[in-house]
Amino acid sequence: MTISAFQLGSDSMQIKWHSGQASIFSYFWLRDNARDPVSFDSQSHQRELFTAMVPADISPEQVKLKEDGQCICIKWPDLENFVDYDSGFLAAYLKPIDEIDVPAPTLWDAHNITSDLVSIEFDQALTRSGTSEALKKLADYGFVLVKHCPCEQASVAKFANNIGYIRETIFGGLWEFEANETMADSAYTPKELRPHTDSTYSLDAPGLQILLCMEYDATGGESVMVDGFRVAHQLQQDDPVLYAALGQIEVTGIYKGDGSNLQARRPILRHDHEGRLIQVTFNNYDRATIRLAEPQMTQLYSGIRYLDSRFNSANYQWRYQLKPGEMIVFDNWRVLHGRGAFQGKRKMAGAYINREDYLSSLKTHNIVKYHA
Ligand SMILES: [Fe+2]
Repeated sequence: MTISAFQLGSDSMQIKWHSGQASIFSYFWLRDNARDPVSFDSQSHQRELFTAMVPADISPEQVKLKEDGQCICIKWPDLENFVDYDSGFLAAYLKPIDEIDVPAPTLWDAHNITSDLVSIEFDQALTRSGTSEALKKLADYGFVLVKHCPCEQASVAKFANNIGYIRETIFGGLWEFEANETMADSAYTPKELRPHTDSTYSLDAPGLQILLCMEYDATGGESVMVDGFRVAHQLQQDDPVLYAALGQIEVTGIYKGDGSNLQARRPILRHDHEGRLIQVTFNNYDRATIRLAEPQMTQLYSGIRYLDSRFNSANYQWRYQLKPGEMIVFDNWRVLHGRGAFQGKRKMAGAYINREDYLSSLKTHNIVKYHA
C-alpha cells in the first residue's frame, strides 16, 4: 500500500492511501513508534525512546512524502533528522489489532479427521520446510503424528529443540514412562485415561506436549485426541448461556504430592479480550474440590457433564494405536489427550514445550502474522 496524501490535524494526521482508504495516526503514537536510530534499536528491536518524556502535545515541524508514497518523513522537534515511516509499516497498523493474528483453526471431530491429514515423517519434520509443515498442521488441527522416529528419547529432544526448548517441570524435562504388568506386584492393568489437558494446576500450562511410543507389546492402549475447540463450538451452538458461564467460572486444578502443592485456576473456556476462545483447560482428575455459590455450582456441573460426555464420545475422537517409532505432538491449550486401557508393556517418552515458544515458532515460520 502506498500513501497518496496526508492532512495534518491538531493532534493527529490523516493518511490517505492510494486504495482510497484513510487512516488517522496520532502524533504521539507516531513519535513513540519512530524507527530512527535515536528512538529505536533495530538490532535488538527495543525502544530507546523515553516515552514518558515526550510532551503529550507533540506535533511535527515538517512532513513530506517520499518515494512515490512509499514513505512519509516527519521532522520532530526533539530530533535532529527527519524520521522515515515506511508505508508498509503504517499499513500494518491501519486499525488497532492484536500482536499476533492466528489463522482460524480447522475444527474437527471423528467425521472429518484422518491420520493422513496430520502425518509427517520424522526425517522431514527436522528440515526447515518440514518443521513449517508440522507447525502448520499443529495450527490447523492442533496435533501432528510424526512417523518413523528412532525409538529413543533423543527423537523427542530433536523435535522439541527444533521448535523451542524442553520445559522443566516437577516431572523433569525429558521423561520416560513404562507400564509393565509382568513387573507389577499384583495383576495390574493400566487403566483408561479419559481425555484431559495437562497441567491445569500450572499458571502457564504447557503449550505443546510430545509423546513418543518407544515400545509396545500389549493389547489396547489406543491414543485418543479430541478437539476441545470443536466441542466448545458445539456447546456454543447448543447452549450459549452455558458456554458463556464456562467462560467465566474459574476452576482450580491441583497437584499435591512429592513435596509440591501446585494450584492454578481459570475458566474451562478461556477467551482473549476480543472474545476469541484461546484455551480449553479440562482435567477432571486434577480438579480440586471447590464450592461455588449458586447458580454457578450447578452451571459448572452442567458444563462438565456436557463437555466430558462429548470428550469421551467416539463421535468427537481420533483414536489411534501408536506403534513404536510414532510420536504425537499436540496443542495442550486446544486438544485433549487420553489413552485406552491396556494390558502388556508400553514404554513412552515425552516432553513439554512452553506455549510462548510454540507461538514464537509459528511466527518465525510465518504461520501467524505479527508486527515488529
Ligand atoms: Fe496427560
